[in-house]
Amino acid sequence: MNTTRTTILLAGATGDIGERIARALVQQGAHVRAIVRPHTSADKLEHLHQLGIDTLPVDYKDAAAMQAACADVSCVVSALNGLRDVMMDNQTLLLNAAVQAGVPRFIPSDYSMDYRNLPEGSNRNLNLRREFMKRLDQAPIAATSILNGAFGELLTGMAPIVLFRYKRILYWENADQLLDFTIKDNVAAYTARAALDPHTPRFLYIAGDQVTARQLADIMTELTSQHYRLFRAGGHKRLERLTAIARRFDGKQEDPFPAWQGMQYMNGMFTGAGKLPQLDNDRYPDMQWTSARQVLSEHISS
Ligand SMILES: NC(=O)c1ccc[n+]([C@@H]2O[C@H](COP(=O)([O-])OP(=O)(O)OC[C@H]3O[C@@H](n4cnc5c(N)ncnc54)[C@H](OP(=O)(O)O)[C@@H]3O)[C@@H](O)[C@H]2O)c1
Repeated sequence: MNTTRTTILLAGATGDIGERIARALVQQGAHVRAIVRPHTSADKLEHLHQLGIDTLPVDYKDAAAMQAACADVSCVVSALNGLRDVMMDNQTLLLNAAVQAGVPRFIPSDYSMDYRNLPEGSNRNLNLRREFMKRLDQAPIAATSILNGAFGELLTGMAPIVLFRYKRILYWENADQLLDFTIKDNVAAYTARAALDPHTPRFLYIAGDQVTARQLADIMTELTSQHYRLFRAGGHKRLERLTAIARRFDGKQEDPFPAWQGMQYMNGMFTGAGKLPQLDNDRYPDMQWTSARQVLSEHISS
């Protein structure tokens, strides 16, 4: 048994953000106990062991085993991802186990824009975060949510904002709306620090960068020496109509990230409803933040 290092229980360590948080926790000197589903492959377990992470296969429905997994833990960090069965059902089982075991602190799997002011029903996935928030706030445990806007990697990936082929920056409604972006490793490094910090507030807000569509066009023009122009795809009402159509014709309603979910996310960003109210980047002064310019520059030169 580890007696000197702080033990953090991590759920979702086999996932993208979860593994990054686990690495960051190990780097920060923490002992990481990762609960994994019983069917998790030997390869995945071995990979986590190589990173210095202890793994514990547990059935989320086995309350006694879940409570035992939380023994001597100073913070439970969730990096689960999915729909209601995961974000409400299993995350609640995780929360209950933490409370039963007397764990003092809980970090839910949010890592998103500020979902609290989004119109009800405007974002299916973030509605589940908001629903879980209400449950978490009723529980006798201190909670901290990390809110980071969109992942910075989306600028060069799934988010249709920088249209490299057409030299356009696509935006909705307002080219001057500030958008929050944070790369995944920044989110993970900050979450690890927050997990090890016993005095965190209920919400921590971070952004590697805050940029408008107009600023993105300038950045891309400078980086490529080619003229990137703004492309207004429409107003918010048009985006909402298109999202509803895409949702109606999507057969895979159980997919956590269909295209229409991305459209709902874009709407929350471009209306400003999901904008972070402040930044707590400076809470951990050793953090090195990655800007949108750096993300785009690395993508162009790769
Ligand atoms: N702000 C943004 O732009 C943005 C973008 C993407 C994601 N996120 C957020 O980041 C968080 C993590 O997402 P991710 O991309 O890292 O997800 P991911 O790679 O899909 O990983 C999900 C994790 O959840 C576990 N899991 C899934 N279903 C489960 C279940 N029924 N019971 C127990 N564990 C289950 C998976 O375990 P197995 O390996 O066993 O399946 C895996 O460890 C989520 O809150 C997500 O919304 C934010």
